Amino acid sequence: MDTTKVLLILISLAILLQSLELVDASVEDECKIVTAADPNVDYKFCVTSLQADPRSGSADAKELAIIAANLTVANATSTLSKIEKLLGDSKIDSATKGLLNQCSSFYKDVVTAASSAIKAISSGSMGDAKKQLTEASDNPQDCDDLLFEAGKNYLLKKEDNDCTNLASIAQNIVAKLQ
Ligand SMILES: *[C@@H]1O[C@H](CO)[C@@H](O)[C@H](O)[C@H]1NC(C)=O
Ligand SMILES: *[C@@H]1O[C@H](CO)[C@@H](O)[C@H](O)[C@H]1NC(C)=O
Repeated sequence: MDTTKVLLILISLAILLQSLELVDASVEDECKIVTAADPNVDYKFCVTSLQADPRSGSADAKELAIIAANLTVANATSTLSKIEKLLGDSKIDSATKGLLNQCSSFYKDVVTAASSAIKAISSGSMGDAKKQLTEASDNPQDCDDLLFEAGKNYLLKKEDNDCTNLASIAQNIVAKLQ
């Protein structure tokens, strides 16, 4: 192999490495902005969640907001099936099941709101998207509050916090795009 070829390979590698770094920096930069705006969101949770979607590697801020809203829909949907399971659990009393039913309607609203937010972000209606995502991040906490008052919030604590945090990530990215 002659030196020109070796040089070309080295240069290509350097460019490739640099572009990989730039791409990575985007998720990390957005997560720094998000966690600065909302200290309740954990930086590592933010990076891990966004990177779980393979599209995040080449996404700009708007696409990252859509990814975060999409994760919110997926998470609320999986929480709804967990609530269904709890509602079918004979060891859980009927008063608690009444609260879980309310949580279920909160989470259905999260699915609707975060899905509308995806459409709003895509069409550039950031104000609408922000409103929908605020609802999506508040609702799981309303569920947590209900269950907490009854001493039962351990049932959905992780779900409530994860879903709120995912919606907050989307909301804070959108807020910056407004
Ligand atoms: C979320 O992303 C997946 C994968 O691209 C897609 O199939 C799904 O329809 C999206 N969900 C929403 C609510 O847009
Ligand atoms: C949603 O939250 C649950 C915790 O309830 C978590 O285990 C799961 O990984 C999350 N799903 C997504 C798609 O982020």
